[in-house]
Amino acid sequence: MATTIHSTIDELNRCLQNASAEDVLTWSASTFGDQVALACSFGAEDVVLVHLISSLDLKIPIFVLDTGRLHEETYDVMNRIREKYRATFEVFSPQTEPLQNLIRLKGPQSFYESVENRRECCGVRKVEPLSRALKERKAWITGLRQGQSVTRVGLSKVEIDEAHDGILKLSPLVDWTEQQIWEFIRANDIPYNSLHDKGFPSIGCAPCTRATVPGEDIRAGRWWWEQPEHKECGLHSRQPSH
Ligand code: ADX
Ligand code: SF4
Repeated sequence: MATTIHSTIDELNRCLQNASAEDVLTWSASTFGDQVALACSFGAEDVVLVHLISSLDLKIPIFVLDTGRLHEETYDVMNRIREKYRATFEVFSPQTEPLQNLIRLKGPQSFYESVENRRECCGVRKVEPLSRALKERKAWITGLRQGQSVTRVGLSKVEIDEAHDGILKLSPLVDWTEQQIWEFIRANDIPYNSLHDKGFPSIGCAPCTRATVPGEDIRAGRWWWEQPEHKECGLHSRQPSH
């Protein structure tokens, strides 16, 4: 059975190899209806996807994991996108009790103390809310690109998400370069996070993201105190999360 599913996914990737991001989005909407959704952090890739979904008039729901620690600039762009595209977002916040316990027992900045503590905070603020966002879904769409990090080089447009009950994970921009993303944003006058103009190529939570300097890796400013191979928060883990 597993072999059959994996060969079907390989076949799908072969078919979609030369498909545009528009084609992947259109295919996902017609295949999954409202059981597919875009995970949107309002980073550069995600605003491109919101623009495409809106201009293709696709009824793909969009959800946001509001960790409670996002930058004010992220809320600004959320507002601008909301107004420009008349978009509504499903919002998933951390559960109150685990969050209160985390802060009570370990304080508000435990993530700086160890990789384990950092993963615990990401677990409460991002990973658990993501599992609620993906309930009842058959597929989700992300803005992941191969060029973003050493942990993402082998990504395909379509993957089985073993961490989330084997639903499909679609990354329509997987083979876009950073330059293509920015050319598209400028050509289409898409609102974007103003932190990108202040040296932030990748944006997560405020206490865990810093600006980078020219020559540094795209994700060097994320969890900058950790080694590159640890820099995933669990949203894109390939292991089952439960
Ligand atoms: S992360 O795992 O390191 O935080 P990254 O910021 O690169 O991920 O974003 C990759 C993709 O994960 C985004 O394009 C988006 O699809 C999804 N994502 C990341 N953070 C969020 C968020 N807060 N809300 C919704 N989706 C998110
Ligand atoms: Fe917590 Fe930082 Fe992870 Fe945000 S990125 S959930 S603040 S550890």
